[in-house]
Amino acid sequence: MTREPEGKKYNSVAIAFHWVIAVLVIFMLFWGRYMTDLPKGSYERLEGFQLHFSIGITILLLSVLRLIWRLMNPAPKLIPTMKKHEKILARGTHYLFYGLLIILPLAGWATVSTSSLDVPIIFFDLFQWPWFPGVHDIENRKIIYEVFKEMHVTIGWLVLGLVVLHVLAAIRHALILKDGALKRMWPGK
Ligand code: HEM
Ligand code: HEM
Repeated sequence: MTREPEGKKYNSVAIAFHWVIAVLVIFMLFWGRYMTDLPKGSYERLEGFQLHFSIGITILLLSVLRLIWRLMNPAPKLIPTMKKHEKILARGTHYLFYGLLIILPLAGWATVSTSSLDVPIIFFDLFQWPWFPGVHDIENRKIIYEVFKEMHVTIGWLVLGLVVLHVLAAIRHALILKDGALKRMWPGK
C-alpha cells in the first residue's frame, strides 16, 4: 500500500468506508455476545443470529471493496510530528484491521457452513446466501467446525482489542496532542 506524498485529510470515500464499517463492526462485537446468550431454540435467538449473519456478510463485502479501493487510492501520510514507533504501531493496527475484517467474517461464514445444525444464511430476509465453498458437504466436519468457530471467537477478541487501542490513540491525539488527527478522518472540512 503506497502513500500520497502531500495529502492531509482522508478523502470522502475513505471517510465513508471508515465510519460505516466502524459502526457496523462495533455493533457486531456487542451483538455477537448478546445473541449467543439468548435461550437456545428460541425465535429471538434464530432472528438474532440471522441479523448477525447478514450484517457480517455486508461487512465482508464492504471490507473487500475497501481493500481494493485502498490499494488503488493511497492514504495521506501520517502526521509528521508522530514518532517512528508510533507510526509503526498506527500503520500496523490499520493493516491488521484490513486483514482481520476480511478473515473474521470469512471464519463466521465457514462456521455456519460446517455446523451440524444446517441453518441457512438468509441475507436480510431476501435470499439464501451460499455456503462457504467446499466445506458444507465434508463428512465428519465437526472438527473443522470447531476450528472455524474458535478462529471466529478468537479473532473477534483480537479485533475488540485493536478497536480499544485505536480509539485510545484517537482520543490521545484529539485531547492531549491536539494535532488534528481525528479531523483527518472526520466528515466535512
Ligand atoms: C466483522 C464481522 C463479525 C464480527 C465483528 C463478529 C463478531 C462475533 C462475536 C463477538 C461473536 C460472539 C463470540 C462469543 O461467543 O464470544 C460471534 C459469534 C458468532 N458469529 Fe460472528 N461476527 C462477524 C461476522 C460473522 C459472519 C459473517 C457470520 C456468518 C455468516 C458469523 C457467525 C457467527 C456465529 C455462528 C457465531 C456463534 C459462534 C458460537 O457458537 O459461539 N459472524 N461473532
Ligand atoms: C471498528 C472500528 C474501527 C475500525 C475497524 C477502524 C479502522 C481504521 C483504519 C483501517 C484506518 C486507516 C485508514 C487507512 O489508512 O486507509 C483508520 C484510521 C483512523 N481511524 Fe479508525 N477505525 C475504527 C474506529 C474508529 C473510531 C471509533 C475512531 C475515533 C474515535 C477512529 C479514528 C480514526 C482516525 C482519526 C484515523 C486516521 C488516522 C490518521 O491520522 O492517519 N477510528 N481507522
